Amino acid sequence: MAFLLPGQFFRTTEEAASKTPGTPKKSDEPEKPVNPMQASKEDMPRLLAVASPLRRGGARGMQARPSPMKLQLSEAIITEEPEEPKASQAKPKSEPEKKAERLPPVVSVRKMAAKGCAIVLLRDSAVLELSVAMKVAVVGGVCVQVTRHTRKTRGDDEEEEQGVFIAWGHRVENKVPVSEEAIEDYFNGLSEVDKTPAGLDAKPPFEEELQRFELTSTGPLPLNKQAKKDEASAEQMLQGPHGKPELVRSLWKAKQELDDIWNKPPPPMGRSLMQRVARDELFPHSGKEGKEHENRAGEKLEELATAVGLLEDVPPGAAFLDLCGGPGAWSQFLLDRPNLPLRGYGFTLRSYTGKEDDWQAEEKDDWYPDLLENPNWTALWGADGSGDLLKPWNLEHSAQQLRDRGGVFLCVADVGFSDKSIPPNQLELYFYRLFLGEILMAASCLQPGGRFVCKLYTSCSTATSALLFLTTRLFDHVSVVKPMTSRVSGPERYLYASGFRVGQETKEIISALTSSQNIGAGASPFQVPLLTPIVAASNLIKDDQFLKQLQAMVGRLLERQAGSLRATLDRAEELEELALGLADEAEAGAVQWEAAAAARREQVAIERAARHAEKDRQREERRRTESGYTHRGGRGNRAARGEERNHQAARPGQNRRGFR
Ligand SMILES: C[S@@+](CC[C@H](N)C(=O)[O-])C[C@H]1O[C@@H](n2cnc3c(N)ncnc32)[C@H](O)[C@@H]1O
Repeated sequence: MAFLLPGQFFRTTEEAASKTPGTPKKSDEPEKPVNPMQASKEDMPRLLAVASPLRRGGARGMQARPSPMKLQLSEAIITEEPEEPKASQAKPKSEPEKKAERLPPVVSVRKMAAKGCAIVLLRDSAVLELSVAMKVAVVGGVCVQVTRHTRKTRGDDEEEEQGVFIAWGHRVENKVPVSEEAIEDYFNGLSEVDKTPAGLDAKPPFEEELQRFELTSTGPLPLNKQAKKDEASAEQMLQGPHGKPELVRSLWKAKQELDDIWNKPPPPMGRSLMQRVARDELFPHSGKEGKEHENRAGEKLEELATAVGLLEDVPPGAAFLDLCGGPGAWSQFLLDRPNLPLRGYGFTLRSYTGKEDDWQAEEKDDWYPDLLENPNWTALWGADGSGDLLKPWNLEHSAQQLRDRGGVFLCVADVGFSDKSIPPNQLELYFYRLFLGEILMAASCLQPGGRFVCKLYTSCSTATSALLFLTTRLFDHVSVVKPMTSRVSGPERYLYASGFRVGQETKEIISALTSSQNIGAGASPFQVPLLTPIVAASNLIKDDQFLKQLQAMVGRLLERQAGSLRATLDRAEELEELALGLADEAEAGAVQWEAAAAARREQVAIERAARHAEKDRQREERRRTESGYTHRGGRGNRAARGEERNHQAARPGQNRRGFR
């Protein structure tokens, strides 16, 4: 990497001025070198003609002098020392002189307003590294995310563009547009920041790793076969057998504090971006979507399957049921195992079916077309064709179909819906009947020894804890797993159970689950969210082993959930402060680049106008050729033959949209 030396810079300036076509010299006298920091507006286009390495092939190798920022980062980037001038030329430069010879850090700004993002090409490596290390910035009062941009330019002499990609999103752009000038000023100004801010590294509160908790029980407990409708209330979450109401309250507080950020008035605008970046810094795997699966659910199943050995020793040709599985990344994952040919069935809510007060799935939840076309996969819709698991007649109809075909070895269930009408902190309660339905369906169609995966939410209430207890009676091995890819700050987790047991106890549990499910009578979760527990709290606490394991699982996951929310909140605030501080420094620093930046923009405008004029000229030439105009104004053959003219063709000097 070679630096442009002062001598070279001035020589090149002269050469450029004399060689640039259409740049007339004012006199025959050789032009005086131009000091960029004292340049007038008239000097700037000429300066910039040599200053922009990306616009002029000959000057591509040029590099601006590094900014005074004492960045450790920049030292890592700048590997080649600038050539020392020969002894005869060598005249030590003063600091102000050196400073005056620097080129502006920003080479160009390309904003894409429709998306609320921009690409900023930079020639100053220190500015580049600082802005990438910051990850965020406040530009023109708006929070933006900053990532490295690299791209090979097309052409004979392939060059790597260096710069940053900044994004703030189209929604924020619609409210408060971020101008190219503000972007340019910010990045130019960064070159004057003389020290890297402290606190660029985020410190996670705990290690990001998959969590797994075994659940076992010592024996059967009395079953409540006369469950009733129960009122869902936040109290139910505090009073469950987990015995740690203070942890539940602490989680609620952390959630509230995060929500309160939305009520904090700007500036800066688009503050939620800081939360997103903070979460990604602290928990990079959490809620991450990979490229392997069509949606995020696939990621989670794959991680879980690997951790628990879900597909180990599965008999080839075995069948699975993908319950509440639309749009079907789980089915795709299971059908796509190269050494394990499986047959699949899917059961999910059909979009826009059911009564007005039922929860309506959207088209995006419908099965992927490749599944519907797959001969090894069949969709089941239940007796009424809606695929609604909450309707007991659908559950029984599809379970019977599966039993008639020999049952399934695997049942995977992932029910979910998002509705703002679910009261805060009661998600688990509104999902109770769905969780119950999933366990009942699995118990109704699994083969002996079969396996079951099922999403659930926090298990704070007695009702949910009782269902977990029942799974320990239905299966040989049960654990609750929270994959890394499942949002650490979210309530979601998965039940994994293997070794399905058949026998009298299973029959009794199925009967108790069925009576409970029938109480709902197919009503939506909003009408009947919760039922009384199938195992009473007073009985659950009799199984000390189960209770201890349940408490450990609930407690640990609550702590991690609340801890991650608090850490995200703190880090988001820290990022905002860092970004605001740097924005102030950059604003002060941008002053000295104002003239250069204005001239650059003017030059860009001139070049853009020239490009448009050239395009218009070419278009006009094509139009004349096509329509048979001659330069004498005569009409060509087509017109003479009376052929239809292209009325959409632009008038001279005008493009198709009528803009000049
Ligand atoms: C999180 S998605 C499942 C994602 C799926 N595992 C995948 O890999 O694509 C939850 C699904 O549950 C479905 N669902 C919600 N309520 C249901 C109900 N009552 N009966 C059946 N399916 C339901 C939703 O329509 C949605 O398709």
